[in-house]
Amino acid sequence: MEHEHHKIVKIEGLKKEYPLGGDRSTPALLGVDLEINATDFAIIYGPSGCGKSTLLHTIVGLEPPTAGKVLIRGTDIYHLNEEKRSVFRSQKFGMVYQSAFWVKALSVWENVALPLLITGQPEKRAKRQALDALEELELGQYANKRPMQLSGGEQQRVGLARALINNPWIVVADEPTGNLDTHSADMVMDTFQQLNKKSKRTVIMVTHNLIYLPMANKHVAMRDGRITSVGLAGVKEEIRQELAGVL
Ligand SMILES: Nc1ncnc2c1ncn2[C@@H]1O[C@H](COP(=O)(O)OP(=O)(O)OP(=O)(O)O)[C@@H](O)[C@H]1O
Ligand SMILES: [Mg+2]
Repeated sequence: MEHEHHKIVKIEGLKKEYPLGGDRSTPALLGVDLEINATDFAIIYGPSGCGKSTLLHTIVGLEPPTAGKVLIRGTDIYHLNEEKRSVFRSQKFGMVYQSAFWVKALSVWENVALPLLITGQPEKRAKRQALDALEELELGQYANKRPMQLSGGEQQRVGLARALINNPWIVVADEPTGNLDTHSADMVMDTFQQLNKKSKRTVIMVTHNLIYLPMANKHVAMRDGRITSVGLAGVKEEIRQELAGVL
């Protein structure tokens, strides 16, 4: 059914409890419903421990939920077996974390190509794809450097190029500017925006940084394992209440 595939991400009744041993468990998601369009730049905002990372991990197929479903362009990913889900993840999702992990002995392009080299792609083709991903983000000049020769912000942008290597539908980022100074963070955010607007990829980002809220077109506020509002006005109101509690 075509209309079901209109939403690139559709989450229904998602619950996640982490077992603690015995019959005890930590509730992390208490029933989340969310829809994301292919053109969206979505920002998820909320206090520490509210379930943001759990939600991202569940969306990409890394964390089987206790209840509910995750549909990616109509595919119910937790109906796939683990192996198929892992292939689905590597093809459809690119992931970026707070800092990038590098094989320090390899060059930038080799690091970017690594996901392909590991799956046995011929080196020439893997290199071409790595250079294309770097060019797409205007990072071609770093291809032959070592990652550690780059600034933190440049490394994060190269990490973004690596996330693009399989030409994914969706880029998922968990606090990608969390370790960066303001200038580098701005550059990284520009790159995300370029990716969303020019390269037409869906972006789903968790950030604590309020100044980036206007870059997104979809805003989701979370608290205690639930989505408490969707939309910039609602998220601003959440922040106002949060501040009122401290000030
Ligand atoms: N692997 C795990 N095992 C057990 N409990 C977990 C695990 N991961 C997260 N939790 C718990 O689930 C809840 C939500 O955690 P989560 O990491 O999703 O929050 P978050 O919103 O990403 O927080 P932060 O902003 O600090 O990164 C927390 O109570 C956390 O302690
Ligand atoms: Mg987190």
